[in-house]
Amino acid sequence: MKSNPMSTNEHWNRIYSTKMTNELGWYEAQPVPSRGLIQNCCVSKDSPIIDIGSGTSTLISDLLGEGYENISALDISQAALSKAKSFLGEHLSKKVQWIIKDITSEIDDFEIPKVEIWHDRAVLHFLVDEEDRERYLFQLKKAVVPAGYVIISAFALDGAEKCSGLDVVRYDSRKLCTFLGESFTLIESFNYKYSMPSGGKRPFVYTRFQRH
Ligand SMILES: C[S@@+](CC[C@H](N)C(=O)[O-])C[C@H]1O[C@@H](n2cnc3c(N)ncnc32)[C@H](O)[C@@H]1O
Repeated sequence: MKSNPMSTNEHWNRIYSTKMTNELGWYEAQPVPSRGLIQNCCVSKDSPIIDIGSGTSTLISDLLGEGYENISALDISQAALSKAKSFLGEHLSKKVQWIIKDITSEIDDFEIPKVEIWHDRAVLHFLVDEEDRERYLFQLKKAVVPAGYVIISAFALDGAEKCSGLDVVRYDSRKLCTFLGESFTLIESFNYKYSMPSGGKRPFVYTRFQRH
């Protein structure tokens, strides 16, 4: 069991309830690197895709706009997903499966769907406890079908040491290979300097893996 799961939840709810979306230090008007990596998977438009720690990311509306039809958005923060739904409006938001869950907690099969693409931008790096990373990996392995893809972007080794007041673990593609283990093959990776709304730069690593 997690020692204090509510504190993470409250932390993120407070952020999403008090800040404008386009002021968030991770806001992207256009999710260009993620979109490119998802397109490179060449899956059909009805393939199941999950965005882990989706927050109020513009990726969801972007994917709907590209014609993807089977999208799930999971986040620990109810406030984030409520905002994300209201940005999309009633019609579009009904096309998305919204899952309010801590990815490091026990989630039953019916709540986390089987997916062909697992996408995570800036979530794994917040898991500083090994047990949390193990639970994340357990959920990932349960969800991603054989030959499915895992896209993870995280702060690079020369990236920030903290984000939104929380400690992070920084990665490169080698570290992410070690994390995912032998049943995943690295297909592509690149470093990317994200420009924050404040003008600051944050180095990220982006990776795309395929499950054997
Ligand atoms: C830095 S934000 C990134 C949001 C989004 N991926 C993006 O690129 O705009 C991190 C997100 O992860 C969510 N999050 C943090 N810990 C989580 C957990 N254990 N389970 C699920 N979501 C989590 C937060 O609520 C927040 O929306």
